[in-house]
Amino acid sequence: MLPGGRNWWRGSIGYEIYIRSFFDSDGDGMGDLCGISAKLDVLDTLGVDVVWITPFYPSPGKDQGYDVSDYVDVDPAFGTLADFDHLVARATELGMRVFVDIVPNHSSDEHPWFQAAIADVDSPYRQYYIFRDAAPDGGPPNNWVSHFGGPAWTLDPAGTGKYYCHLFLPEQPDLNWANPAVLEEFREILTFWCKRGVDGFRIDVAHGLTKDPQFRDNPQVRPVTPGMHPKDVFASYQHVHDLHRPETTKIFEEWRRIVQPYDAVLLGEMDVRNIERFTEYVDGKGLDAGFVLKLSASNWEAATILSDLMTYVRAAHGGAAWALSNHDQPRAISRFGVGEIGVRRAMAVTALMIALDGITFVYQGEELGLPDAVLTGVAMDPVSTRNDGAAGRDVARGPLPWDSSKLNGFTTAPHTWLDTAPLPAALTVAEQIDDPASTWARYRSMMELRRRLPALWSEPLEIFDRQATSLVLFRGPLTIIANLDDKPFEFIPEGEYLVEFESQPGAAGGDGGPLRIDAESTVIIRRRAD
Ligand code: GLC
Repeated sequence: MLPGGRNWWRGSIGYEIYIRSFFDSDGDGMGDLCGISAKLDVLDTLGVDVVWITPFYPSPGKDQGYDVSDYVDVDPAFGTLADFDHLVARATELGMRVFVDIVPNHSSDEHPWFQAAIADVDSPYRQYYIFRDAAPDGGPPNNWVSHFGGPAWTLDPAGTGKYYCHLFLPEQPDLNWANPAVLEEFREILTFWCKRGVDGFRIDVAHGLTKDPQFRDNPQVRPVTPGMHPKDVFASYQHVHDLHRPETTKIFEEWRRIVQPYDAVLLGEMDVRNIERFTEYVDGKGLDAGFVLKLSASNWEAATILSDLMTYVRAAHGGAAWALSNHDQPRAISRFGVGEIGVRRAMAVTALMIALDGITFVYQGEELGLPDAVLTGVAMDPVSTRNDGAAGRDVARGPLPWDSSKLNGFTTAPHTWLDTAPLPAALTVAEQIDDPASTWARYRSMMELRRRLPALWSEPLEIFDRQATSLVLFRGPLTIIANLDDKPFEFIPEGEYLVEFESQPGAAGGDGGPLRIDAESTVIIRRRAD
């Protein structure tokens, strides 16, 4: 059913698995690869085509696995390479594809490359990282800041007086992509996973990698004040010299050549503010697609959401990976409202995203209508633990509630890796999976749309009517009416039609007159003649 060749992923439905919190198969309180294999059939029933699994490589876990100390193995906490092979085999049996998360901007400081770099200043591995002389006053070489607070520079543990660069934690030293040897290492890493049968890579911090060769200061746009959240400190600078360098797209052109023989997809995480930059990454020579991160962070502002969607439709040329939530931001359902209203709004936008060109991702738990987790124990996210308890990302990372037994059936351990308040039966998979009126069942009917109505991705997209908070699209015989307004919207379809989908039961009304779409709902109709 999915298109073949390099573009097989277009029109498919992805699902982000945050491995720590998906399902624990071995009773250590943390999700693992066998836990994913055991539950893949549930995702298959839901209608998922592609799973993206967050990092499971050996890691000291300072940034929950995004600090990799070996790129070609599995951390014992998550299983073994054989478990990974089993997962791929199970996915293949079910006709599902697997994307792994690759972290090329930085490694862990415990990676043997970094260990060699600080053990011997003459080691070739020294050139794998970015060591720079101190400023004349002995401070960091420039004004770059880390995403997680403090300067992006830490003194060389080798005692040279130099600093090394880290756009994230000091335990996540940035790799030096100006050194061709780093690309050669990643050639092997990418090939290793392609040979193990992965279908694509989610590329972490794809807008990072290369840095200004002169390491100039970033322009500062507003003052940084004491106690500012690290996110706000970061946004106080224009990241023209540490991120978004033009050389990075050239690196991805090389990656494309590496993965070409395996037809693997390159899907970037690019935190771009400038939409032209997004287009440069997904121009067909480098990455296939990139996440539209703005949507995963926005609150409920219907006009802004719609305008962002339309901007990316134009800029991405089909290379948009739509997602309302991910493991780095509060969940959409909490950002959009509380309870049913949040679910309603999330479904209206997701149904529209499914009708746009690209690939649509759902973040684990979205299909259950999960709000942010309530933390009951210590914070785990370094954003909180290293910044005096600043709001962090743990709220999006709570264990998935499978049933209403102890710890929601996620684990048999006495504790989970992240302590969160138990969730009510109504929010569990067990309760929702057989209930046709559940959020899970409604997501399932939404996810099957692209299979049931292939015109949703195969016919050209035509914007028929665009208002500030509503949109009417044509796709061959289909009309998609997205009404994100808080009032109903009327539309007069041509000729007779069938209602194919409503994001809310009964959202399409009108009794023979104009079609009336309820507030905050998306409806898909099909011309009857077709
Ligand atoms: C990405 C990941 C995030 C991680 C960061 C550093 O943004 O999604 O979880 O902390 O990169 O690797």
